[in-house]
Formats: sequence, structure tokens, C-alpha cells
Amino acid sequence: MKKVITAVAVLATLATGALAEENRALEGRKGQFNILALNLGVLGGMAKGSVPYDAAAAQAAADSIVGVSMVHQATLFPEGSDNMSIDETRAQPSIWENWADFESKWADLGTAAKGLQTAAAGGQEAIGPAMGPLGGACKACHDTYRAPE
Ligand code: HEC
Repeated sequence: MKKVITAVAVLATLATGALAEENRALEGRKGQFNILALNLGVLGGMAKGSVPYDAAAAQAAADSIVGVSMVHQATLFPEGSDNMSIDETRAQPSIWENWADFESKWADLGTAAKGLQTAAAGGQEAIGPAMGPLGGACKACHDTYRAPE
């Protein structure tokens, strides 16, 4: 019983504190974008030929991008975490005014990621063409919803 109470207390502590939660969301979303960029870099290097093509590594990078694309965005973008309300973010308030469009741009990323996942094992020449739509999906959202540095 004591264990249960302790566990509940720990969970409650972890879950409370609006500020802590906001920071976690901020770190979480930046983390996901950095995972995307890292894996895109791996594939970009192979597409350009600056890194030798490796089917397993290409597949792993594409799989990771698909995995991130499956993360639902609502918990990472709580209301009030825009760049007018808090520091250290480039998320524009327009995200929350156009939430359905933001989610649809995220879904476009998922579609492009799946295309890349299929192409990744197909050899060096297959990667570049499949990266185009993915890069386009990143850019479409950044141009609209990410503030310039
Ligand atoms: C649906 C919208 C959306 C899509 C799709 C998207 N991004 Fe972003 N990205 C954002 C927003 C909004 C921010 C700003 C987050 C913040 O500062 O809180 C951001 C920030 C970033 C950052 C900076 C992270 C940091 O540490 O501050 C990187 C890197 C990034 N994105 C890479 C990518 C890559 C690569 C892709 C595509 C594979 C991608 N993004 C797709 C919306 C998107």
C-alpha cells in the first residue's frame, strides 16, 4: 500500500506544475524536430554521395523519420506555448488559430516519410528523389508556422 501511495505521489509530482509541463512540451517538440533533421542529414549525405550508401543505415534513418511522424502533436504544442507568450520558441501563434491545417501539414510529413521508407532500401539513386517531398513537407510548415530566427 505504501508503495502504491508513493508511486501515486511521484506521478502526481511529475504531472503537476504548469511551467514544468510547458518546458517538457517545448523540449519534446524541439527534440522531435532534431531527430528528424539528424536522420534527414544521414540520408542527404548518402544521396549526395558524401557518405557511402548503406542499405541498413538508410532504412534505419527512414524508419526513424516515420516513427517521429507518428507522434501526435497536440501534447507537444499546448495552448500558450507560442512565441508571443513564452521565450525560447519560434512557434507562431497562428498554429493554434489554424490547428487543423497545422495537423494536416504534419500528416503530409507522414506521407512523404512513408515514401522515403519504401525507397530507402532501393539504392543510392532512389533516396534523393524520395527526399524531395519530405523536404517540401518540412518547408511548407516552417514557411507558415515557424518564426524566422
Ligand atoms: C507541421 C509543422 C512542421 C513540420 C512538418 C516540420 N516542422 Fe520543423 N518546426 C516546426 C515548428 C513550429 C518549429 C519551432 C518549434 C519551437 O521553436 O518551439 C520547428 C522547429 C524545427 C527545428 C529547430 C528545433 C530546435 O532545436 O529549436 C528543426 C531542426 C526542424 N524544425 C526540422 C524539421 C525537419 C527536418 C522537418 C522535416 C523532416 C520538419 N522540421 C518538419 C514545425 C514543423
